[in-house]
Amino acid sequence: MSIILHFITLCSFIILANAASSIAVSRSINDTTERRNLGFLSCGTGNPIDDCWRCEDNWQRNRKRLADCAIGFGYNAIGGRDGKYYIVTSPADDDAVTPQSGTLRHAVIQDEPLWIVFKTNMTITLKQELIMNSFKTIDARGVDVHIAYGAGITIQYVTNIIIHGLHIHDCVPTGNALVRSSPYHFGWRTMADGDGISLFGASHVWIDHNSLANCSDGLIDAVIGSTAITISNNYFTNHNEVILLGHSDTYVRDKVMQVTVAYNHFGEGLVQRMPRCRHGYFHVVNNDYMHWEMYAIGGSANPTINSQGNRFVAPDNPNAKEVTKRVISEGMSDWNWRSDGDLMLNGAYFNQSGAGEAASYAKASSLSAQPSSVVDSLTSGAGVLTCRRGRQC
Ligand SMILES: *[C@@H]1O[C@H](CO)[C@@H](O)[C@H](O)[C@H]1NC(C)=O
Ligand SMILES: *[C@@H]1O[C@H](CO)[C@@H](O)[C@H](O)[C@H]1NC(C)=O
Ligand SMILES: *[C@@H]1O[C@H](CO)[C@@H](O)[C@H](O)[C@H]1NC(C)=O
Ligand SMILES: *[C@@H]1O[C@H](CO)[C@@H](O)[C@H](O)[C@H]1NC(C)=O
Repeated sequence: MSIILHFITLCSFIILANAASSIAVSRSINDTTERRNLGFLSCGTGNPIDDCWRCEDNWQRNRKRLADCAIGFGYNAIGGRDGKYYIVTSPADDDAVTPQSGTLRHAVIQDEPLWIVFKTNMTITLKQELIMNSFKTIDARGVDVHIAYGAGITIQYVTNIIIHGLHIHDCVPTGNALVRSSPYHFGWRTMADGDGISLFGASHVWIDHNSLANCSDGLIDAVIGSTAITISNNYFTNHNEVILLGHSDTYVRDKVMQVTVAYNHFGEGLVQRMPRCRHGYFHVVNNDYMHWEMYAIGGSANPTINSQGNRFVAPDNPNAKEVTKRVISEGMSDWNWRSDGDLMLNGAYFNQSGAGEAASYAKASSLSAQPSSVVDSLTSGAGVLTCRRGRQC
């Protein structure tokens, strides 16, 4: 792109952004097309993750740059940055115990760090859960990769995982089968619920720029002491229980949980749990909540929820204006839940609680929130990006 063209683009962006503020809500209720037009300027949008790498024309020659762009509680997730590239050439998933080389399953079970990319567009229908080994990046930039109509991704007792650029949808329950988890181990898996991405006892995980929809259970669930997680820039649609953070009210090991939910678009057809939290510390920051049928953010047990700079557009249903939902057991309800700088539209309201204990919110703070007025541009590129070689992504 020439400098002049770039300059003109920048000016028109500023004009558009100013003119847009008054119509921001109606435009955003519209489908993605217009939002993406606003996001045509992919770098310099103020989204700190994107601005870290999307300004680069030759992103595909420097893919591992992405690993240095995470922020939030998962910022240390390096994925396969220090390893070789692995190119997935086949969508096949014929054998979960002895996967063929060139398949995604063969790539993710390896012991060494790997940066996994895809040769072509493909739809991978996993016969069983995709059980990942540590230090892996799945990077689908530049191609269209769908994980669909089969099992989802399982990140269990491993660390340093980056998942970027996948379409994950229509996941179904699988299991009662043998599945390999490393070159040296396979084991019996009982039934899996059909989550899109499922974390058990996982740490240093970054889930960025994916489009997730319509799975049998959660789109993203993190349980059993999973922590140091960032869920950013994703686009969620058509789903009931969207994100679950915490195993059960009695599982107190989840008190270690620290999760950042930032710059995501919560879109059409969503019902509840964006997220639902139990124990631990949750920073929900600069997300765009356009649709929910029941509520957006909820929980039980005793989570600390720090909601900052989000935009909440309530549904028209007069009984679903509340952003929050508490499931109260044993009389506990004085949890630290705060709304700070959130934009409340169409009658949305956030029921705050707790003494506002500073130490508790300090543990639920992971990046600086921007004003809710810029959520539209921060989230305009949410979901899978269309990346072409030699052009800004
Ligand atoms: C969606 O966009 C169209 C054309 O861009 C506009 O006519 C319509 O009013 C918009 N819908 C909403 C709900 O704002
Ligand atoms: C890959 O998928 C994208 C999006 O559907 C499409 O635009 C592109 O043409 C496809 N590429 C190939 C080589 O089929
Ligand atoms: C969601 O998945 C179910 C099957 O699990 C299917 O019947 C339904 O059509 C899907 N919904 C959408 C919106 O794709
Ligand atoms: C806020 O939540 C508390 C605890 O569930 C409840 O007692 C109260 O009625 C709620 N307030 C509003 C305005 O919804």
